[in-house]
Amino acid sequence: MNATGQIPDSSNSARPALDNDRIRGDFPILHQSINGCPLAYLDNAASSQRPRQVLDAIQHYYCHDHSNVHRGVHTLSHRATEAYEGAREKVRKFINARSVTEIVFTRGTTDAINLVADSLGRDFSADDEILISHMEHHSNIVPWQLLCEKTGAQLKVAPINRQGELLLDDCLALMSDKTRLVAIAHVSNALGTINPVERLIPAARDRNIPVLVDGAQAIPHQAIDVQALDCDFYAFSSHKMCGPTGIGVLYGKQQWLERMPPYQGGGDMILSVSFEQTLYNELPYRFEAGTPNIAGAIGLGAAIDYLDTIGMASIAAYEADLLTYATSAISELPGIRLIGTAAEKAGVISFNVDDIHPHDLGTVLDHQGVAIRTGHHCAMPVMEFFGIPGTARASLAFYNNRQDIDQLVEGLKLAIRMFQ
Ligand SMILES: Cc1ncc(COP(=O)(O)O)c(C=O)c1O
Repeated sequence: MNATGQIPDSSNSARPALDNDRIRGDFPILHQSINGCPLAYLDNAASSQRPRQVLDAIQHYYCHDHSNVHRGVHTLSHRATEAYEGAREKVRKFINARSVTEIVFTRGTTDAINLVADSLGRDFSADDEILISHMEHHSNIVPWQLLCEKTGAQLKVAPINRQGELLLDDCLALMSDKTRLVAIAHVSNALGTINPVERLIPAARDRNIPVLVDGAQAIPHQAIDVQALDCDFYAFSSHKMCGPTGIGVLYGKQQWLERMPPYQGGGDMILSVSFEQTLYNELPYRFEAGTPNIAGAIGLGAAIDYLDTIGMASIAAYEADLLTYATSAISELPGIRLIGTAAEKAGVISFNVDDIHPHDLGTVLDHQGVAIRTGHHCAMPVMEFFGIPGTARASLAFYNNRQDIDQLVEGLKLAIRMFQ
């Protein structure tokens, strides 16, 4: 998809310019055999792989610069602080936030959403509503359910259609003067649907409702500009965009973060502490209690540098082409049912084959060196909507190629023969 969320036309025969061979050379993990076959890693929606540049940055930090950040007077602490805060600036630039004060490092998307639920939601009451969609990941459902349990607020769910698309008009109709927040996935991890956030956000804005976008599955695949989107919050995880695990980002508009109470208490989030009164630190440190994941932030910064050298526009065009190729090859197999056939889709292909259990498909594919995910993908309401226990899901990254897809298709043919 491109910056406006559209999938580029890949019908012409010209293949997008991205040096896949050179890129694959940057990813050591891809060059191994699994069960005697070359690895075809197609589980990128669960977690992506890391290029050598990210691994090197983390190793360099631990070998040369590690110390605790922010409060040291010695050289290593200065270096660690510079690298950590440098990573924050890289994130700011990557998503075009106005200021680094709007970039809060979290443990990941889940932690970022819980932060907003806990902090923004602290004054919600039984008169309030939170609006989500039917295709959310559990990480964008359960924190709101917990908040509803605590405050008596109501959770409203916008419906989807059989293609796995958000019913936008129904969603807008569910917004009222009771709605305190809309929380919606930019891209569905189970279906690949790209939600029309650029239409939803202005409609919410007209009604003075803030919008949190769960960007976990969008940020690895397209350029994100939070100012152009005009979202109030944008949450994402480093490990899905070639960075380390255990770190992610909550972007929050300054006007919201300023009025939100701290999420967790401890070191770094204070200006002064006495038993009578504690004064909280300025943004974004107010939301970063305790020693942060310094190496994680530095690794995320290196991942951003890496993605920038390839260019998000090239990544989006390349993946759109690969998605078209994969969707057409998989659709031709006998007994295939695609789950998620939205007009606007990112590189996720969820499917079932006749009544073969997805876990059986996944196991046969693993024997062929192909890594996919099977199950409910932390989106049980989506599975319930389609009346299935789960799906097999192949998910793409820019380091995948047509050979990976061919290997997947051959593996599926074998599984179909075995279970027929
Ligand atoms: C759409 C979506 N939201 C949230 C998450 C949770 O991300 P994390 O486990 O990195 O916090 C995921 C993970 O798969 C996801 O796909």
